Amino acid sequence: SSLTIFITDMKASTYKRIVVLTGAGISAESGIRTFRDADGLWENHRLEDVATPEAFARDPQLVQRFYNDRRRQLSEVEPNPAHRALADFEQRFHGEFLLVTQNVDDLHERAGSQKLLHMHGELNKARCLLSGRVIEHKGDISADVLCPCCQRPTLRPHIVWFGEMPLYMDKICATLEQCDLFLSIGTSGHVYPAAGFVDIARQAGAHTVEINLEPSNTEDAFAEHLYGQAGLTLPHFLQQLL
Ligand code: NAD
Ligand code: APR
Repeated sequence: SSLTIFITDMKASTYKRIVVLTGAGISAESGIRTFRDADGLWENHRLEDVATPEAFARDPQLVQRFYNDRRRQLSEVEPNPAHRALADFEQRFHGEFLLVTQNVDDLHERAGSQKLLHMHGELNKARCLLSGRVIEHKGDISADVLCPCCQRPTLRPHIVWFGEMPLYMDKICATLEQCDLFLSIGTSGHVYPAAGFVDIARQAGAHTVEINLEPSNTEDAFAEHLYGQAGLTLPHFLQQLL
């Protein structure tokens, strides 16, 4: 009816610049384990053994095996309704939109997301330790896989380890400072700088919403909270914004 169209148009004009942050929780329903939940990755591995530059220097094979296993898993999982809802929303939303993910899987892009920054790197890329060049790389990384530029076994996973600098920080912070809606989805809020994005958005005057299975470490910083499985809550929540 004409009334429905009127209300829809009013809502579409409410927010013009949206930033979304996602974490491991958004991929949980696809079958990828999170880090800090019960049976999370950090329950079964010491992150100091597999996710630091020091670990890689000490035992590169152990670190490569950890990421090779995770890279192989990508072919066994599919985007879930939460990934698809974000991609669908981006396509239909008329304002500015940026999706920042801490995830190193490729489920957002496989769902169709376009404006997407992987601030903690990507499993499907490798980086040459000598040249710094980043290449697409879908298979295992091992001692007999050579860097295409150096022809030597100098590849490491293109993953931001603990103590390393997250990627795209200038672009992300500049966009947060301009946003009017900030959504945080499936992240425990334990890892900075991502856990501090809500404060930047709030200082910019944005409305802030936490969408998570349970209250996160930074729940107090958010104006609105929506708890439950993201695959169930997010499609409906985003539909309401259009
Ligand atoms: P960190 O949180 O201090 O910083 C992360 C990285 O981002 C650092 O390399 C830092 O240089 C960089 N950084 C910070 N602000 C930045 C900005 N504005 N622009 C660009 N880069 C910036 O350190 P960390 O060692 O990566 O640890 C991350 C978090 O994880 C810590 O809060 C720590 O408490 C937590 N942690 C959790 C566990 C666990 O859950 N088992 C274990 C270890 C650490
Ligand atoms: N829907 C919504 N949220 C969920 C779901 C779900 N189906 N399942 C789990 N969650 C929530 C959990 O309640 C938890 O708060 O997702 C969050 C996942 O938190 P973490 O495992 O800590 O993952 P994340 O916040 O992405 O970790 C940040 O830490 O180890 C580093 O670099 C790694 O990028 C990672 C960073």
